[in-house]
Amino acid sequence: TRPLKVALLGCGVVGSEVARIMTTHADDLAARIGAPLELAGVAVRRPAKVREGIDPALVTTDATALVKRGDIDVVVEVIGGIEPARTLITTAFEHGASVVSANKALLAKDGAALHAAAQKHGADLYYEAAVAGAIPLIRPLRESLAGDKVNRVLGIVNGTTNFILDKMDSTGAGYQEALDEATALGYAEADPTADVEGFDAAAKAAILAGIAFHTRVRLDDVYREGMTEITAADFASAKAMGCTIKLLAICERAWDGGSVTARVHPAMLPLSHPLASVREAYNAVFVESDAAGQLMFYGPGAGGSPTASAVLGDLVAVCRNKLSEATGPGESAYTGLPVDGMGAV
Ligand code: NDP
Ligand code: HSE
Repeated sequence: TRPLKVALLGCGVVGSEVARIMTTHADDLAARIGAPLELAGVAVRRPAKVREGIDPALVTTDATALVKRGDIDVVVEVIGGIEPARTLITTAFEHGASVVSANKALLAKDGAALHAAAQKHGADLYYEAAVAGAIPLIRPLRESLAGDKVNRVLGIVNGTTNFILDKMDSTGAGYQEALDEATALGYAEADPTADVEGFDAAAKAAILAGIAFHTRVRLDDVYREGMTEITAADFASAKAMGCTIKLLAICERAWDGGSVTARVHPAMLPLSHPLASVREAYNAVFVESDAAGQLMFYGPGAGGSPTASAVLGDLVAVCRNKLSEATGPGESAYTGLPVDGMGAV
């Protein structure tokens, strides 16, 4: 079988781990897919940077030329941000490639248009890594629970802020010291404002709500409060009441089922609540549905290696689809259920 060609857009915290695992697990991946993977090119901003395990001949600053080559089977987009990622992804579809992305900001802004572009060109768009790092959530919601009726999705979906809140609570660390540590560990976004002001969690809430409730939820539909104003005194008050403080994402159907809401804000949680014991950059999400009842998903929510695990899982799925000339589920069947626009603040 011919090798499947993969173009890697971005080789930072996540991309470098994707490339490493593609190399070290090459035989296993080939066996699972039914064809070997070939890393056909790696697009970056700074080509002179030494990148362990990457053939310098593959490195380019011209991501557009790479996705336009016409022989690429799958583009893995781990650059982040809106542009050039959006144009690169749509160009990839136009040139016959399927796409795996970890880009929650882009999917929360333009997910519907990207799904439409994928469908138009008979391509796949997979993005398990965009929400909660290594934790399988997108595919369970989109596939395993497709026959059930989800009523609520609630949890901790940002590793950086959970890391900061945990350090402030358990060690008394200052906000800036904890943020610097989270950034050094590769958890934070390129601009950590996205994490601490709740934009990253709000983007994830929008993606989860759209899939869970079969409607379209965008970042601007999500009520959002960050965690920058939480102080040591707040933790002391919480502790006195037997609580801790977590940044929660909450997506739910209205009581009458006629609309949905999504919101992100800090909340006091009793220490006995399972989410209160989620430490460091771990994430945990509860899904409540009619038939299944309550499900809990827990695991590493950020970082290069855990996120690469989710990207590689998508890569295997997309490659299998390519070989069988099929596509996976596209946009969750759109029912038009209205979003109760609490709006961003
Ligand atoms: P990094 O900032 O570490 O890496 C970004 C990469 O993109 C770098 O290799 C950079 O090149 C490259 N790049 C930037 N601009 C361009 C451009 N115009 N053309 C080509 N390459 C470019 O980000 P992360 O790896 O942390 O994140 C990547 C994506 O994954 C984001 O969407 C993020 O939200 C998402 N994500 C990240 C997680 C994490 O824990 N870090 C977890 C889950 C998702 P250079 O190396 O030369 O600077
Ligand atoms: N910055 C994000 C976080 C990365 O801390 O959760 C994972 O999506």
